[in-house]
Amino acid sequence: MANQQALILKEGSSRSQGREALHANITAALAVAESIRSSLGPKGMDKMLVDGFGDVTISNDGATILDEMDVQHPAAKTMVEVAKTQDDEVGDGTTTAVVVAGELLNKAQALFDKDVHPTVIVDGYQLASVKALEFLQKLAIKVNPSDKAMLKKIAKVSIASKLLAEHKDFIAEMAVKAVLQVTEKSGTKYVSDIDDIKVEKKPGAALTDTVLIQGVVLDKEVVHPGMPRRVEKAKIALLNCPLEVEKTEFDAKLNIENPDQMKAFLDEEEKILRNMVDKIAAAGANIAVCEKGIDDVAQHFMAQKGILAVRRVKQSDMEKLAKATGSRIITQVDDLKPKDLGYADLVEERKVSDDKMTFIEGCKDPKAVSILVRGGTERVVDEAERALHDALCVVRDVVIEPRVVVGGGATEAEVARLLRTHAQKLSGKEQLAVQAYAEALEIIPLTLAENAGMDPIGTLMELRSKHQSRQVRTGIDPYKGKIADLAKLDVYEPLSVKVQAIRSASEAANMILRIDDVIAASKSKEGPGGPKGPGDSAKEEGEGES
Ligand SMILES: Nc1ncnc2c1ncn2[C@@H]1O[C@H](COP(=O)(O)OP(=O)(O)OP(=O)(O)O)[C@@H](O)[C@H]1O
Ligand SMILES: [Mg+2]
Repeated sequence: MANQQALILKEGSSRSQGREALHANITAALAVAESIRSSLGPKGMDKMLVDGFGDVTISNDGATILDEMDVQHPAAKTMVEVAKTQDDEVGDGTTTAVVVAGELLNKAQALFDKDVHPTVIVDGYQLASVKALEFLQKLAIKVNPSDKAMLKKIAKVSIASKLLAEHKDFIAEMAVKAVLQVTEKSGTKYVSDIDDIKVEKKPGAALTDTVLIQGVVLDKEVVHPGMPRRVEKAKIALLNCPLEVEKTEFDAKLNIENPDQMKAFLDEEEKILRNMVDKIAAAGANIAVCEKGIDDVAQHFMAQKGILAVRRVKQSDMEKLAKATGSRIITQVDDLKPKDLGYADLVEERKVSDDKMTFIEGCKDPKAVSILVRGGTERVVDEAERALHDALCVVRDVVIEPRVVVGGGATEAEVARLLRTHAQKLSGKEQLAVQAYAEALEIIPLTLAENAGMDPIGTLMELRSKHQSRQVRTGIDPYKGKIADLAKLDVYEPLSVKVQAIRSASEAANMILRIDDVIAASKSKEGPGGPKGPGDSAKEEGEGES
């Protein structure tokens, strides 16, 4: 009886436990952090990623790199989630969050090898992260959310490491203008949503040809050749109903017995369409933007009346148009009233590179704007768009929560010092864990120094001694390759970016450290094209019904 074995897992399942499981998880997570470490900071390198179809992405953005890497290991995936959360919540600091998470695990591994139990490490880390967040709040500097110069500095830091760093002045200025334009005051707070900023991209010009449009740019052409291509003082109707004769949902058969009946039939259709166009014209609109289709005949009538029309516009664009032009989206042409129309100084179809685009610009105090990103090639435009996204996000972050911290690793170094001082009040092994946490934060200045070709350890020692002598804003100046007062160099980052980075890095590290058992089901052998499992057939049936 004593030697009897019981199989509780399915055949082929793998299981690793205890030390072995923890080591494997840490190794996988560390590999992820290590892979993007060299991209941190203004002197960081970019990564080239090639997907299964041979499509190439060149990026410096942590979240993008990890997303494209398509990692498989479950612990490694946790790190990818860290980057993703960071990107969703605050838009910048994705590399920082992952690198810190990685280093927390690295330091934990060292403690673990010295026989400190994972739960002690987890508790210590937990305590340290609460304290670190507290210290961050203390180090934060209040700013004025409408101080354009400050916002511009922050935007510039966020794109310092990106491909378009050369034009950071220009892009930062644009990001600040765009965010402030869509920001609204609600009580004492500001609300700002970067979804109100439409970013459209087209390769085929210089990066400096990127423009901010006080309105919306649509990747659509005017529907009919007879329509005007340029309308000044535009009165815009937004319609989300088709300008077509509605087709019935069921099949019906009509017997037509003579040509007159046929004609009456067509005439009636024409009358309906003419009626719709007349209503639009009667309301005073000279622009019609339609979310649905526009019948050829209706197009013809609109052209006759000098109305410029665009069709099949995305719902999100319709919403932006409503915010930009002040018009109301109408669901039935019959309901259209003059007061529902929006206004723009100019609506014009222009050829951008090979495509025709419609610009609705010169709106009065628009609450949605657009940025048309240009650049030499597709890849440049893609990366420029990602960098612009970071810039827009950090400006929004500061507008919503107007506090900043000093960048370049200065804040991390200071929080580390404060944590070390705090650790002295703790006892035994907990103290070790808090110290390890402090050291892990120093990976940021260390990496910035390393990526700038400086001597990492020497620099870190120098940095520590500066912080000991209360020069709390000392960090890494990667351009000059030495340590400096980064507040003097105008390197500021939003507090919310650092808070989120520390929070999600700690959570991810703790989550991985708590695992002591990995049970993985065997991979199903049937790949695509192989025999289908019961799940597949159920899905197919479901699809058939809809
Ligand atoms: N001019 C500068 N001098 C010193 N440090 C800088 C400067 N500009 C940026 N940094 C630092 O570079 C780091 C940010 O680097 P980077 O933008 O590559 O990574 P991230 O923001 O963590 O992630 P990602 O931008 O990929 O989402 C921050 O620590 C920031 O303080
Ligand atoms: Mg960044």
